[in-house]
Amino acid sequence: MAIPSRFIDELVARCDIVDVVSDYVTLNQKGGSYWGLCPFHGERNPSFHVVPDRQMYHCFGCGKGGGVISFIMELENLPYPEAIRHLSKVAGMEFPEEEGDDQYRKRKKRMLALNKEAARFFHGRLYDPTGQKAMSYLHGRGLSKGTLTRFGIGFAPDGWDNLLIAMQGAGYEKSELIDAGLAVSGKQGKIYDRFRGRVMFPIIDLRGDVIGFGGRVLEDGTPKYLNSPDTMVFNKSQNLFALNLAKNSKIGRLILTEGYMDTIALYQVGIDCAVASLGTAFTPGHAKLLARFTQEVVIAYDSDEAGVSAAQRAIPLLEKSGLKVKVLRIQGAKDPDEYIKTFGRESFVKLLDRSEDHVEYSLAQLQQRYNLEEDGQKIEFARAAAQMVASLPSPVEREVYAGRVAQLTGIEKAAILQEVNRAYKKQLGQAKKKQERRDMLPVQQVQPQARELRYDNIRSARAEEGVLSLLLTDETLFDQVDGLAWEQFSSPFLGKVFALLRERHEEGNAIHLGALAGVLAGEEMSQLSAILSRGTVHQNSRRAMADYKRIIETEALTKAGETDEVALLAARETYQKIKGMGDGLNGR
Ligand code: UTP
Ligand code: MN
Repeated sequence: MAIPSRFIDELVARCDIVDVVSDYVTLNQKGGSYWGLCPFHGERNPSFHVVPDRQMYHCFGCGKGGGVISFIMELENLPYPEAIRHLSKVAGMEFPEEEGDDQYRKRKKRMLALNKEAARFFHGRLYDPTGQKAMSYLHGRGLSKGTLTRFGIGFAPDGWDNLLIAMQGAGYEKSELIDAGLAVSGKQGKIYDRFRGRVMFPIIDLRGDVIGFGGRVLEDGTPKYLNSPDTMVFNKSQNLFALNLAKNSKIGRLILTEGYMDTIALYQVGIDCAVASLGTAFTPGHAKLLARFTQEVVIAYDSDEAGVSAAQRAIPLLEKSGLKVKVLRIQGAKDPDEYIKTFGRESFVKLLDRSEDHVEYSLAQLQQRYNLEEDGQKIEFARAAAQMVASLPSPVEREVYAGRVAQLTGIEKAAILQEVNRAYKKQLGQAKKKQERRDMLPVQQVQPQARELRYDNIRSARAEEGVLSLLLTDETLFDQVDGLAWEQFSSPFLGKVFALLRERHEEGNAIHLGALAGVLAGEEMSQLSAILSRGTVHQNSRRAMADYKRIIETEALTKAGETDEVALLAARETYQKIKGMGDGLNGR
């Protein structure tokens, strides 16, 4: 599909990178640029860098980078034209529609419409005579009429084709129901409803679209819950049940539960900040999603062993996303739903207020594994606890929890602290060694992360990077590289970018990273942003350009076997000079 490049240039000009990124990431200004926690990988310390002058972002941790369009593609998981469409809305620009060009968007739109229609169908069935047993089941579980409406809860009747028939009547094809995960194609090619005789919970995303369903059996049966498979609109590891509601809560923290019913039970008593993962393990994607809306998460998983170990796995993921994590310990009931039914709302709120800092919780879990009456076990516990405390990032926390371990064991705090500090230094030493090993390999350091982009000739590649970096900084330098051909570049990737930039320059299009998202792959954009971030500062960019050009030309000749020794040596000397200068000036 061809979107006019004028349109894209204007779009990129109108969508300021800082504004766009700020919708997803909290940015702090430092000098002329901004730093925040990277939305693409879990981290505690900001290595996500946004540079307004270049209208680009780059993460020094995971290496991802690009301009506004790449950012939206990556974060919203959209293909290029969809990201453009998304940004057009942000910028208030009319998207240039073209006839019949966009299969993807159409299919997606129809799938969402079908899901919505299906949700309506299921909800309606609750009020049919055949839906009576579902209705009494839901009433039996304490759900009010208001709750049923608010969550759009429904019923998929018994039978093989209730939904199929209804949706075909509404103009959808069988194949569309299969694609949407609503129907299944059996061994003999027989097509039938996926959800039969189940209470239905629609899963709604942040835009308010129905993206999938969870269906529960009425009595005993397996599986207890059946969920929609992942489809082009549904990705279990990137969505959370009820986040569309919880994101508007005024409570100021989010509660993470294991189940649909736990979340719903909390809403029904006015605790409108609960979410649930969708029958899958909690993922880093979930953690990042939560971090977009809150600073504090309270884990309220089931009280059984599975719940405890699931919480232990979720804690580090949440922490890595910069969230403050607390854990609620439910006693006398198996899950929040049952707890509220048994002890009432007030009790639960008290429990919530008393929810422990996750360290406290983990210490308690650890403690259960030792018998502190025995000296040997007590010491073992103290060692294990010290290890855990040592992994806490803040010295204040380490101090406080060392005190706590001392209290639990009756060992002197000074001794515990010593143990903690030793473990801390060891962990620090290991991290440092790892870093040193990385630093020892300068060649590897300048190598692109993506394998396909690896450089054969580092010397030339560095100069090629220099050329691109200069051109992207100062368009007037194009006249200097007239004689340079992209074929002379040692890296096919860098050569391609060079050709691309020159072409854009000649056509009078904007020359910046942001406008290249349509022609370069995500990895290529990341590599370019890395190059720009290494950005050597030149006092005399014309001189630098001339040097780079000479290196590229000489290296190209060497490869072709035509160079004379003197020119080669001179060029290599120039290279050493530039390299030294660059290393001293690298950003971080
Ligand atoms: P639970 O078995 O704890 O169910 O599963 P629950 O939430 O307490 O449900 P009720 O109260 O018996 O109705 C927790 C979550 O795990 C997923 C569902 O998302 C469920 O809400 N799950 C469970 C499945 O996806 N499939 C299953 O078969 C069971
Ligand atoms: Mn339950």
